[in-house]
Amino acid sequence: MSTSVSERVAKETANDFLPLQGTDYVEFYVGNAKQAAHFYKTAFGFQSVAYAGPETGVREKASYVIRQNKLTFVLTTPLQIDNHIAGHIYRHGDGVKVLALRVDDAKDAWEQTTKRGGKSYLEPTTLKDNDGEVVLSGIHTYGDTVHIFVERKNYKGSFMPGFRKWETAYNPTETGLLYVDHCVGNVGWYQMNRWVKFYEDVMGFRNILSFDDKDISTEYSALMSKVMSNGNGYVKFPINEPAEGKKKSQVEEYLDFYNGEGVQHVAIATNNIIQTVTDLKNRGVEFLKVPATYYETILDRVGKIDEDIKPLSELGILIDKDDEGYLLQIFTKPLEDRPTLFFEIIQRKGAKSFGKGNFKALFEALEREQALRGNL
Ligand code: FE2
Repeated sequence: MSTSVSERVAKETANDFLPLQGTDYVEFYVGNAKQAAHFYKTAFGFQSVAYAGPETGVREKASYVIRQNKLTFVLTTPLQIDNHIAGHIYRHGDGVKVLALRVDDAKDAWEQTTKRGGKSYLEPTTLKDNDGEVVLSGIHTYGDTVHIFVERKNYKGSFMPGFRKWETAYNPTETGLLYVDHCVGNVGWYQMNRWVKFYEDVMGFRNILSFDDKDISTEYSALMSKVMSNGNGYVKFPINEPAEGKKKSQVEEYLDFYNGEGVQHVAIATNNIIQTVTDLKNRGVEFLKVPATYYETILDRVGKIDEDIKPLSELGILIDKDDEGYLLQIFTKPLEDRPTLFFEIIQRKGAKSFGKGNFKALFEALEREQALRGNL
């Protein structure tokens, strides 16, 4: 190999009409933002960052911004009945509305994407306060989900104009969550390729991995998935669609309860998954469990790993490998009453893939939960 990683990234960025610096924040529309913020702080170790609501001159909604390392969540709730946020929650329950992406030039990001067929959600808008300015723009993606492009290079405040710093005496310790590794969307029957084409044409992403129903099927159900990545690889969006099986697949269950397409899971990176998952469990976070037999043959499949198998099996952490290394991953149960959004916790030790070797064990675990809900 003659080119270094940094040269390759520089070259890809130069040809990239939508250079992205990563995920800026994930915004959830929720029925009760105050309580949701408390839950994510208490259970996951997020820190209070900023607040907007009636006290800051915002009449129609309240938003709490929480952060852990490079992972920023915004939890937003409507304060009035005739409000698009209320409509979103009525239809979908609590869920992800915005996958916000950091850019150097939000106006250019909007122009580049809308001229390629992206449907505008927010025309370039400059917000100013004493800490500087933030430029926002946005486009629609699958379902009611949107991408907002965030340009904050001229801003020094805690989040953005309109928000005030949120200071509180309640600051639970962090759990080692670092940043968004990838965000997965569930789309409707036969819609995967349409959205693959959207990310290719409108946002300049490429399809780096594909899984068909032979990779991802159990006795009962199946799904297909394609992983889309931006040029520098900082932003990865796998897209799932249901596939024919004997019974209802997990993607169909999601589509039924979310009433349409939306974000299925946010995968969050950690440098020490054993410590992170131990902490999360102690704080009441619930995870999917694979059968103990999974660990009997796992080292034959993945080879030597740095970690002891005992804590991994006790916690239910899954292991997979690819040509470049291995990864450790685990999935929470749904984070709300509807079987919709969940989190993945992932530690990469060289591997750049998504845990294909775990799909079968994992989906069987998911189906056991689905059956308990009467939805299989
Ligand atoms: Fe994932």
